[in-house]
Amino acid sequence: MKNFSFHNPTRLHFGKGQIAQITAEIPPGARVLVVYGGGSIKRNGVYDQVIAALAGRTVVEFAGVPANPEFETLMQAVELGKEQGVDWVLGVGGGSVLDGSKFIAAALALDPGIDPWLIVGNKTPLKSALPIGCVLTLPATGSEANFTGVITRKETQDKLSFKNPAVFPRFSVLDPTVISTLPARQLGNGLVDAFVHTTEQYLTYPLEARVQDRLAEGILSTLVEIAPALLQDQTDYDAQANLMWAADQAMYGLVPLGQPLDWATHAIGHELTVLYGLDHAQTLAVTLPNLLAHTFDAKRAKLAQYGRRVWGLDGDDATVARAAIDATRRFFESAGLKTRLADYGIDAAEAAAGVEAQLTRHKRLALGEHGTLTPADCRAIVLASA
Ligand code: NZQ
Ligand code: ZN
Repeated sequence: MKNFSFHNPTRLHFGKGQIAQITAEIPPGARVLVVYGGGSIKRNGVYDQVIAALAGRTVVEFAGVPANPEFETLMQAVELGKEQGVDWVLGVGGGSVLDGSKFIAAALALDPGIDPWLIVGNKTPLKSALPIGCVLTLPATGSEANFTGVITRKETQDKLSFKNPAVFPRFSVLDPTVISTLPARQLGNGLVDAFVHTTEQYLTYPLEARVQDRLAEGILSTLVEIAPALLQDQTDYDAQANLMWAADQAMYGLVPLGQPLDWATHAIGHELTVLYGLDHAQTLAVTLPNLLAHTFDAKRAKLAQYGRRVWGLDGDDATVARAAIDATRRFFESAGLKTRLADYGIDAAEAAAGVEAQLTRHKRLALGEHGTLTPADCRAIVLASA
């Protein structure tokens, strides 16, 4: 196990009715920028609960954060926040809204004269951010309890992340009943994103990090167990609660401690989203099975462990490892996600060249747990995803 330091300051309020906790978290008299997306929160009752909990605070609303939050849109929120002198940011939505809220809170505290785009990719130091609260409506990204944001700038074809402890949410509300109104496509996306966050931090090579391995296997097994129940009945509370907690824990920060980390599937996936507009999880479903095949020898031992412990497979390492990759693809498809580029009408040769060029431009030249995956390797992985 490698050395590590760990700190996660986000207070989590989990369960039915917990949106009311906002009242205790945000001081009376605060000026709160409430950030949300395309309006799902107005249709499912979440908005009404949030506004009720904010009684006694000044509420300034910014609606319309799109999936894969756009820098230009977020800057409109920053301007509004400045005009209105807000002192809190409350994100109410999925990963896109929460990541966007982190960016807004950081941009509002940036020294004048610094270009806010420099926040993205960590190109300027962040001394502080406005305090952030989150109400999660889509379990997937773990953004509600980490210090990462992923921001897109279409005009320059960039989808890049930033990380800074200043944007850890002060608190997050995880009410699993919000899953009831998710479109089937977004439920599938959530299952797959949470699954791949876990594999990125687990399917590498053995390093005797037994607790972290079993935590990862627990998350993966839970997702496999609850997926059929949720896909059949999205209002099953036990399944909702377990998905929400599994997705949170996948990105909470315990799974990667002391472990080698991959994250190449996400690096490729972000480029596929910026080039073709695929949903984040769709890119992962397309990429991961072929990435595992491409790096088979380096990952064989861990793939075999995964196959035995998560999928209950028997046999020699190579046989179990191959069957585990097949089981992974089947799981993604059972969640309703297609796993080949052709299924999305995308030409694999063109996408492979595009991803290679984008990774090169973004200087993502040595990916994976061994730092050996070049843009040319990623091109081969995308080509195999035809
Ligand atoms: O915009 P609204 O109306 O809210 O609708 C959203 C959106 O259309 C809808 N939705 C969310 N909750 C709902 C709901 N519809 C009905 N009922 C509900 N309860 O779902 C759609 C997608 O939402 P979005 O926030 O885009 O999805 P997701 O949570 O998958 O977030 C994806 C973004 O997060 C980034 C991705 O790259 C992508 O930009 N990620 C962030 C990470 C992080 N911060 O740590 C890590 C991830 O790997 C990922 O990169
Ligand atoms: Zn992800």
